[in-house]
Amino acid sequence: MRVLVTGGAGFIGANFVLRTLVQRPDVEITVLDKLTYAANPATLAPVADRIDLVKGDIADADLVDSLVGATDLVVHFAAESHNDNSLADPSAFVHTNLVGTYSLLEAVRRHDVRYHHISTDEVYGDLDLDEPSRFTEDTAYNPSSPYSSTKAGSDLLVRAWVRSFGVRATISNCSNNYGPYQHIEKFIPRQITNVLAGLRPKLYGDGRNVRDWIHVDDHNDAVWTIIDTGQIGETYLIGADGEVDNRTVVETILELLGQPRDAFDFVTDRPGHDRRYAIDSTRLRTELGWRPNYVDFRSGLAATIDWYRDHPDWWQPAKQGVEQTYAATEKVIG
Ligand code: NAD
Ligand code: DAU
Repeated sequence: MRVLVTGGAGFIGANFVLRTLVQRPDVEITVLDKLTYAANPATLAPVADRIDLVKGDIADADLVDSLVGATDLVVHFAAESHNDNSLADPSAFVHTNLVGTYSLLEAVRRHDVRYHHISTDEVYGDLDLDEPSRFTEDTAYNPSSPYSSTKAGSDLLVRAWVRSFGVRATISNCSNNYGPYQHIEKFIPRQITNVLAGLRPKLYGDGRNVRDWIHVDDHNDAVWTIIDTGQIGETYLIGADGEVDNRTVVETILELLGQPRDAFDFVTDRPGHDRRYAIDSTRLRTELGWRPNYVDFRSGLAATIDWYRDHPDWWQPAKQGVEQTYAATEKVIG
């Protein structure tokens, strides 16, 4: 089977490529990636001779057409993925997440190629901290940020291309991923590398916001489960019952790294900051039989800390620039 992986040099896409090479040696992988700031070429370097890495933009219709015409399956990870960046400048988010997805959909429609669309739980907006409910496949879309609204728009394009043109697509909406190879602008690797670099972790607002953490390998196993056994045209929510508030995450990182649990700063909040995400993945579990392997967040976090401690060459070159960008807008408030 030939698989075109868009965004395969980013965090989740690269983990997908590496895991697929181990688990499915019969799969031939082509990665299409623009190699933006979010991609780290070092991630795929060890497997460079086993994949075809094409540097290009998913919104380049001619390039996409030729690659899609030569594959059996498209797994679409490529995106502008960081909420803070989307607040500073939404333009790349509209281009990649909306126009890029449109270009892929037109190509899979022309060539009748199976397509799996990677999306996020953020399309559903947020929940209150004391609300018992969780997101399901029936929750109404209500995105908050330029990032999540462009992801919501891309999901709706997929649904329309399924219904109007018979495109053979499935969609998954996953909660917050953690694990190796995640860009250090994101919450968990930012705080781990802060402590490793002798800086204090930074908590937005009151630190009570809740995210529903899932290990990236569990996400990618679910993606293959949906590709293998999911129903065309359907949406599946992916989550591992991993709700934790941000303050607890930071305190746990500090403790695991041998620091006092209160050695962090509160900083100015993210505008429009979603309060809580929570996924009900009953459908994926009961209909397709998927289960997460990482059910203990603390041990998954400890393994992730070990990975960043063992791979300073992977993240150190980006650290100063990332912190300078945050420092331009972030103020310590407590
Ligand atoms: P990432 O930012 O780490 O990687 C994105 C990759 O896409 C990068 O390699 C980048 O170079 C590439 N890219 C960006 N614009 C491109 C373009 N125009 N053409 C080709 N390539 C382009 O993102 P990630 O965290 O790995 O997220 C991957 C996908 O998973 C995204 O669709 C995201 O919305 C979704 N998702 C992420 C999470 C999470 O917690 N990170 C959770 C649920 C869903
Ligand atoms: O829910 C899935 C989404 O999870 C994905 O669709 C996004 O691509 C991914 O980036 C992530 O979005 P979040 O905005 O939840 O992730 P982020 O890592 O930016 O922040 C996680 C939480 O931590 C959030 O409540 C904001 C907070 N935060 C973040 C940073 C970078 C801090 O308190 N301090 C920080 O320094």
